[in-house]
Amino acid sequence: MKVNLYLFFRALTGLSLIGLVYLGITFHWIKLLYKPPNVLDSEGNFLPMAPWSAPIVREGSFDPKLIDEIYKKKNITIATTVFALGKYTQFLKDFLESAEQNYFVGFRVHYYVFTDLPEQVPTVKLGGDHHLTVLKVATSNRWQEISLRRMERMEKLIENRLLNEADYVFSLDVDSKFYGRWGVESLGSLVGAIHPWYYKTHNEWFPYERRPESQAYIPYSEGDYYYGGAVIGGLVKDVYQLAKTCREQLDIDAANSIEAAWQEESHLNKYFLYNKPSKLLSPEYLWDDRKSKTPEIKIIRFSQVYKNYHEIRPNP
Ligand SMILES: *[C@@H]1O[C@H](CO)[C@@H](O)[C@H](O)[C@H]1NC(C)=O
Repeated sequence: MKVNLYLFFRALTGLSLIGLVYLGITFHWIKLLYKPPNVLDSEGNFLPMAPWSAPIVREGSFDPKLIDEIYKKKNITIATTVFALGKYTQFLKDFLESAEQNYFVGFRVHYYVFTDLPEQVPTVKLGGDHHLTVLKVATSNRWQEISLRRMERMEKLIENRLLNEADYVFSLDVDSKFYGRWGVESLGSLVGAIHPWYYKTHNEWFPYERRPESQAYIPYSEGDYYYGGAVIGGLVKDVYQLAKTCREQLDIDAANSIEAAWQEESHLNKYFLYNKPSKLLSPEYLWDDRKSKTPEIKIIRFSQVYKNYHEIRPNP
């Protein structure tokens, strides 16, 4: 019967056994490629939530006025860390000025700017109850090193100060700009942002770390989303756990002379795989100026600005 079926298909397709095998493999990949991602529904709109019931925040999923009123009563402080080392200080002005127009307007915000060049931190007029502290750190010669030390610095800052000084904390990339409201709708115990370049991609194609020797390793069959390392947030104690765990994993990798494909972003993705975010930010909250707006994006709130890496990185 099997042989007959084979002959039947072969007659039908005019292909050899090898050809049929190739056809099967092709179908397998097409099936993988078109498996709907966890982000958009069949009509191309954002899904309301992740498969573990965590909301995906997007335009239309909240009433700004109502949600502001709810959080006003809570008297919360949102700490925000930014890392501006070397030539990255040039991004601070736009970052801070656009934040003052859009970021938690009317709520208590405390920026903590890590930099090796405190004299280059611009004076930006801050709105009522918005504060800024400059924290001097040593200069690094490799951007990978700068990226790797961020988790450690966040861990220490939370330990030393934020547990007493804030309720929530966000770590944001400084080479970015706000274009729209970013408010209390983004608050949750553990918050991750869906990366703008990978939200239509099947998880087999995510740029996770794929070498089992790294602590950031994620096998091809696993992974829900690809999260951007430019945005990490949540309750101070939850972000502390995240920063501490990622720092430990980064240390183990360093001891084994292995650097994950996308440094801390790879470790963040590993952490989120086993500690699912309680809230996800749609790519409205993490866009890229080089990427044109797509129909499912109703508003761009925060976006990475175009930069010439050769000009701003201390090494290639
Ligand atoms: C609100 O929080 C701030 C800072 O934590 C504190 O100084 C202030 O007393 C609080 N206000 C109320 C009404 O609880």
